[in-house]
Amino acid sequence: MSKRTVKPPDVCAKCEGQGYILTERGALPCECMRETERLEALRRARVPRKFLAKSLDSFVTKEIRKKQIVAFARNFLKTFRGGSHDQPGKGLLLIGKEGTGKTHVAIAILKEIIQKGYTGLYWNVPELFLELRRLMNEASEMSEADLFDHARATDLLVLDDLGAERTSEYVIDRLYVLINGRYENDLATIITTNRTLEELRAQVSPRIVSRICEMCVPVDFPEGDFRMQNLK
Ligand SMILES: Nc1ncnc2c1ncn2[C@@H]1O[C@H](COP(=O)(O)OP(=O)(O)OP(=O)(O)O)[C@@H](O)[C@H]1O
Ligand SMILES: [Mg+2]
Ligand SMILES: [Zn+2]
Repeated sequence: MSKRTVKPPDVCAKCEGQGYILTERGALPCECMRETERLEALRRARVPRKFLAKSLDSFVTKEIRKKQIVAFARNFLKTFRGGSHDQPGKGLLLIGKEGTGKTHVAIAILKEIIQKGYTGLYWNVPELFLELRRLMNEASEMSEADLFDHARATDLLVLDDLGAERTSEYVIDRLYVLINGRYENDLATIITTNRTLEELRAQVSPRIVSRICEMCVPVDFPEGDFRMQNLK
């Protein structure tokens, strides 16, 4: 992955763009640097630009079910790696039709986990496999194994849109190793999907779905495409 520093959009009035402020105790990092670091951490976690500003607070909860989803998400955050948590590797399986807010909620949780100082990683599943294949075929700084190990080891992994990838033996094999490896190491995974469990079984194999059901709490998103609300 190439290193790119995220610059604050405007020159900061406090430090005039220096990134630090001179005090009696010496040079201290300015607030704007903390914001730069925060954005850099989100970029490293591959949070898509579109979701940088989204949060659980900005998730509209007119229906009771959506209120429950947000409450559930907050509870996940509260108990993440909590000492009293008997199943630290327990993740979430967010199930629902298109535009129901699954990616929004998954990334909102991921962002808060990163804010707490944990590591995290977002991958759209079809993109993950495109990238793994690309790295297999091209010489680059990062190898396919590096990318895969990174996804296996991060504190919280979001696998977005499971079931949207094109299936092959390679994909099923890799998914199994990834998901099973995370489970065995008590690392939580948030998975989102448009598919029903039955469809997922047919697509990614019953073996993988069985693991997912054991390691994730299912959360159903009520129907209603938020993207279409603009058209109403
Ligand atoms: N309850 C909500 N409050 C605010 N914004 C929402 C809500 N639900 C969805 N959105 C917004 O609508 C857009 C679509 O939501 P999102 O991408 O999370 O849907 P999705 O369930 O992941 O859909 P898909 O299955 O097609 O990927 C996003 O911009 C998201 O921020
Ligand atoms: Mg989505
Ligand atoms: Zn500053």
